Amino acid sequence: MLKLGILGAGHIAEKLAGVYNFLHNDIEPYAVASRTIEKAQAIADKFNFRKAYGSYEEFLSDPEVDVVYVATPHSHHYEHMLMCIEHGKHILCEKPFTVNERQAKIIFEKAKERGLFVCEAMWTRFMPCVKRIREILSSGELGEQRYIEASFCVPISWKERMALPELAGGALLDLGIYPLNYAMLYFGETPVKITSTAELTEKGVDEHSSFTLQYADGRIAMLGTSMTAFGGAPARIACTKGCIICEKLLQCEEIIIDNGKGVVRKENFPFDYNGYEYEIRSVIKAIEAGKSETEETPWSTTLNELRIMDTLRAQWGVKYPFE
Ligand SMILES: NC(=O)c1ccc[n+]([C@@H]2O[C@H](COP(=O)([O-])OP(=O)(O)OC[C@H]3O[C@@H](n4cnc5c(N)ncnc54)[C@H](OP(=O)(O)O)[C@@H]3O)[C@@H](O)[C@H]2O)c1
Repeated sequence: MLKLGILGAGHIAEKLAGVYNFLHNDIEPYAVASRTIEKAQAIADKFNFRKAYGSYEEFLSDPEVDVVYVATPHSHHYEHMLMCIEHGKHILCEKPFTVNERQAKIIFEKAKERGLFVCEAMWTRFMPCVKRIREILSSGELGEQRYIEASFCVPISWKERMALPELAGGALLDLGIYPLNYAMLYFGETPVKITSTAELTEKGVDEHSSFTLQYADGRIAMLGTSMTAFGGAPARIACTKGCIICEKLLQCEEIIIDNGKGVVRKENFPFDYNGYEYEIRSVIKAIEAGKSETEETPWSTTLNELRIMDTLRAQWGVKYPFE
C-alpha cells in the first residue's frame, strides 16, 4: 500500500489528514511534517499517522514515504515540490499548483526526468457531479451551451497568506481559481479573449475581480471572486433550452436542472466523506497504474489554468516580489 506523507501542518493539511485516515484501506497515512514537531505530532496522533517530523528535510529523507501532499502557502509550492522531486517522491500539491506557468513547467520537466507522478489538488475537478454535468450538456437536453456565471467570494483577507504579496496573496490564486476551473471544465481551457477588472489592496494584491473568458464559438464565461465579501460560490451554466445550477460549486452535492419554465429535477451526489476523497482515490489509482498524471487534472490543464491567471494578473499589474 502506498505510504502518504503531509508536508506543512496547517488548516487544509488537517482537513486532508482526516481524508487519508478515512481512506486507510486504500492508502497508509504514514507521516506528517511540520517546521514544529508539536504541530506534526498533534495531527499524526489525531488521524493515526505513524510518524511525525519536525523538519521537512528529515521527512523527505525517509525512504518509506511514497507520496507527499504539499499543503504550504502558494508561494512555497514550487520550492517544496523541487525538494520532493530531489528526494524521488510522487506529489499531490495544493492549488494553485505554483504561482505562475513558468514554475509549473519546470516542475513538470523535472518530474518527467525522474519518472514521478505530480498532480494539482484541484479537488472540485474530481467530484462525481462533474461527469454527470458533462453528460447532461452533451446529451442536448438543454440545447446549446452559451454562458456561464460563477463566483467565489469569502472574507478571508485577514489571513496572512491572502494579504501578503510575499506569500502570493490575493483572491484570484486562492478563490478565483475555483470559478476559473468551473469554466475550464465545461467550456474548455483555451478562451480566445480574456477581459477583466480588479481592485487591488494597499499591499498590491487583488482584493476582488471579475473576469470574462470568451470562446471562439461565442460562448462566454463571466467569473468573479472576492476575499473581503461573502457571496458563497454559486454557478450556473446557461443553455438555449434551460440551465444547470450549482448553488455551491465547491461542495457540489446537488445540481438543479431548469428547463426555462421551472425546475425539472434535482440530482444528488452525496459525498462519501467530505468531497476530497475523490481526488485522493484518483491519485492512488494513477500512481498504482504507473501514470504520471490524473485524467481529471492532467499537467496540460494546470498549465492552461496558470497561463490564464498569469494573463489576468498581468492585466492588473499584480506581480509577486519573487517573480
Ligand atoms: N483544497 C482546498 O479546499 C484548500 C483549502 C484551503 C487552502 N488550500 C490551499 O492549501 C495551501 C495552504 O493553505 P492553508 O489554509 O492550509 O494555510 P495555513 O493554514 O497557513 O497552513 C500553511 C502551512 O504551511 C507551512 N508553511 C511553510 N512555510 C511557511 C511560511 N513561510 N509561511 C507560512 N506557512 C508556512 C506551515 O506549516 P508548518 O508550520 O507545519 O511547517 C503552515 O501551517 C494554500 O496553497 C491554499 O490555496 C486549499
